[in-house]
Amino acid sequence: MISCLTRGKNRLLEIEGKNVLQLSKKFGTPLFVVCEKHLRENYKKFRDLFISHYPKTIVAYSYKTNYLPFICNVIKEEGGWAEVVSSLELNIAKKVHVDSKKIIFNGPVKTYQELLEAMKLGVRLINVDSLSELKKIILISKKYGLTANVGIRLNTSFFGPGYNKFGVNEDDALKACELISKSKNLKYEGLHGHLGSQITTTKPYKKLIKYQISISEEIYRKYNLSTNFIDVGGGFPVRELSPSGTKKIPKIEEFAEVICSTLKKGIAKTDVKPPFLVLEPGRAIVSSPIFLLLKVIATKITRNMGKIVFTDGGINILPLAEYFRYFKYEITPNVIRGGKRERVQIAGPLCMEEDLIGIDRTLSPIKEGDILVVSNTGAYTISLSLQFIKPRPRVVAIDQENNVKVVRESESVEDILKLDKGY
Ligand SMILES: Cc1ncc(COP(=O)(O)O)c(C=O)c1O
Repeated sequence: MISCLTRGKNRLLEIEGKNVLQLSKKFGTPLFVVCEKHLRENYKKFRDLFISHYPKTIVAYSYKTNYLPFICNVIKEEGGWAEVVSSLELNIAKKVHVDSKKIIFNGPVKTYQELLEAMKLGVRLINVDSLSELKKIILISKKYGLTANVGIRLNTSFFGPGYNKFGVNEDDALKACELISKSKNLKYEGLHGHLGSQITTTKPYKKLIKYQISISEEIYRKYNLSTNFIDVGGGFPVRELSPSGTKKIPKIEEFAEVICSTLKKGIAKTDVKPPFLVLEPGRAIVSSPIFLLLKVIATKITRNMGKIVFTDGGINILPLAEYFRYFKYEITPNVIRGGKRERVQIAGPLCMEEDLIGIDRTLSPIKEGDILVVSNTGAYTISLSLQFIKPRPRVVAIDQENNVKVVRESESVEDILKLDKGY
């Protein structure tokens, strides 16, 4: 994997050769920095790996992971599909001109209006999450004379802990097929499953594909419907974010090998036409190309915590640091000072005890005014940021020509208040 974070002259920290301190002075902090080259490489590597094993592969980038339009546009330019779960995400895909035939509409709750919007647009696939959703699609198709390509999300909760509320059981999947087969405007397209996020072994994917193939055979036997898409969702892990002491996490190469060989073997035993394999990666594509620059605003020593380093960004913009304490974001100070390394707690600016983004870190001595660079901050940060206490920060990109450009302005007080009335 290419690394954008290096030490340059005087061991000062640089991202793609750009001095971190200068970036922070010019653009302010907190600041997200996107490395465009790295983002493109990540996407292409992921896609090419799977295609080398299974040419009928489609990679649909998961918008929720980070729907910064700049990022969605880069993925579109590389030929990526869009996996969206709401009208908001659908409209971002439209804004960056993703072809509607490259949009997959997922999500546990799609409203009537959202379904109507997606059907009017003619998205390639709507993966239904319940029979009630399918019934809405049927109503819309009748009322407006619209067609829909429908996939069915399977509930995969028995493959492991975590994802219980999503998808349907086998019996409902079969009922869905019966409804689809009776509707002249709907076409059955395939089966979807998503196992969760940061999946650290290949086993659940193997089980999921076998399960999808067995259900697709039953669907074929009962309703004579062919499965055109086997969609295994996202969940591919970022090895650098896993807790220290975890077992070796397979590389993406291994996931590609296991997923594609399971699919190939599975379909070889049946007489169904090879389906498209759909992957919906989020974290694996956007985590590593994005860094977060934070400024140290104060330091102090308290009774129970020892030295605390307070920065200007916390769990408002790095929410997973709190949701999943095991996420050990790598935090690197811009300067290395001589002297003994110190054990510190790194805290954000929120009035919440939980607002800690680095616990028990041992770092070279840190002073007020230093810049800390948090690595792997592309996934579930910009799209999951809160407007709690602080406005959301600016985002810059280092483009392919090595120029730095602002791709999202920082929010102003006026931006935050512009929807409010009656005061
Ligand atoms: C349906 C679906 N697909 C893809 C993803 C992306 O997951 P990840 O970022 O772990 O790859 C998610 C994330 O929750 C999801 O719900």
